[in-house]
Amino acid sequence: MAASDNQWESQSSQLYQQIFQKIKQHPQRRITFAEFMEAALYDPTFGYYATRARLIGQTGDFFTAPHLAADFGELLAEQFVQMWSILGRPASFTLIEMGAGQGLLAGDILRYLLDRYPEFCQCLDYQIVERSQVLVALQQQHLRPFESYIQLCWSDLTTIPTDAITGCFFSNELVDAFPVHRVRFSQGQLWEVYVTTADPDGRSSRPEVLFREVEDGLSTPDLGRYFADVNVHFTTPPYPEGYTTEVNLRAIAWLEQVARCLHQGFVLTIDYGYPAERYYHPARSEGTLQCYYRHRAHGNPYLHLGQQDITAHVDFTTLEQKGSACGLQLLGRVPQSLFLMALGLGDRIAALSQSESRDRQEIQAILRRREALHSLVNSLGMGNFWVMLQGKALPYPLPTLKGLESPDSTTPL
Ligand SMILES: C[S@@+](CC[C@H](N)C(=O)[O-])C[C@H]1O[C@@H](n2cnc3c(N)ncnc32)[C@H](O)[C@@H]1O
Repeated sequence: MAASDNQWESQSSQLYQQIFQKIKQHPQRRITFAEFMEAALYDPTFGYYATRARLIGQTGDFFTAPHLAADFGELLAEQFVQMWSILGRPASFTLIEMGAGQGLLAGDILRYLLDRYPEFCQCLDYQIVERSQVLVALQQQHLRPFESYIQLCWSDLTTIPTDAITGCFFSNELVDAFPVHRVRFSQGQLWEVYVTTADPDGRSSRPEVLFREVEDGLSTPDLGRYFADVNVHFTTPPYPEGYTTEVNLRAIAWLEQVARCLHQGFVLTIDYGYPAERYYHPARSEGTLQCYYRHRAHGNPYLHLGQQDITAHVDFTTLEQKGSACGLQLLGRVPQSLFLMALGLGDRIAALSQSESRDRQEIQAILRRREALHSLVNSLGMGNFWVMLQGKALPYPLPTLKGLESPDSTTPL
């Protein structure tokens, strides 16, 4: 076994000890799945985002759009410049990137803006909200070259004053990384899924075989209300016995916080998901929970404790409903493929095809780039992600956002 495998195994056991203690201290000896996922992903020492997140990409467990090509960030930058224009080119425009991973997307955006839009850069205040301290360190290292040219800082959503921000809050694959509650429909009733352990003394070296799921009453009435709000009733039509799904209450709290901080501007959210009626369709009987370990996707969150990513799809209906309840008007949502095409990805692909280079290495680089650009819009992958745009206190009449200028922008999810 490689040294690093030993190290990771030891980190897993230490995380297991912590979760075991939490379970043991609880009067009913169980924690919600959301608490389990919180520890597995975000324990500051042994959680996934402390241990392996620095490896996201080829050498890690999954990759995201910025790992494919800088074009993703560059096209987003085009959208931000138009937003600035729509707001009347204010002297201070803030971009807040939430969940910035290794800082790649920020780097691509800033490099392009400095090169093409120096005037915008003079007004730009770029802030990052990041939960993982390991990733903050990587971001700071990656973005150091920009510090002399752009106002750049790291902030915390909870400390941004109410109505302080004119600009745009944005995220790529943030919401799917929030801890979710799991619920199960059984014997005509909705139960919450809790995590317990069959281990009497917490000494096991194989936590994955000892975690057990138990069902009990809902930990919060918000879970029941959630389904009423999206018009999902498990008895009509009858859902299959054992139907299991997830609820992302954290996403609601997050969006409310963003809406509170936004004085005027936009919220741009990119992620994979469905509207509630598809998310909670009776046929999706095992929910959408997915784990990623060394580029393999599977459905067992108790394996590779603290060493694998755990995600759940995003319910966009809830983000739209709760957004409008807290003052965020839905401007549109489109598949990522159409969003990027509307911003010029098609022209970039076409330009690549017109290259007349005869140099072997150059041709190979062009082919690689073309493949990467196609991956961004592939309808079986990232092209099928959703881009949701919301806004607050925007001028009227509002010009169409460039990324929404596609014939399909009103297509229901
Ligand atoms: C799947 S990664 C996506 C990273 C990056 N956006 C990208 O496209 O490569 C999720 C990111 O969200 C961060 N994150 C998760 N919960 C967060 C929260 N509540 N506040 C800020 N960042 C958070 C993670 O640490 C990580 O940087």
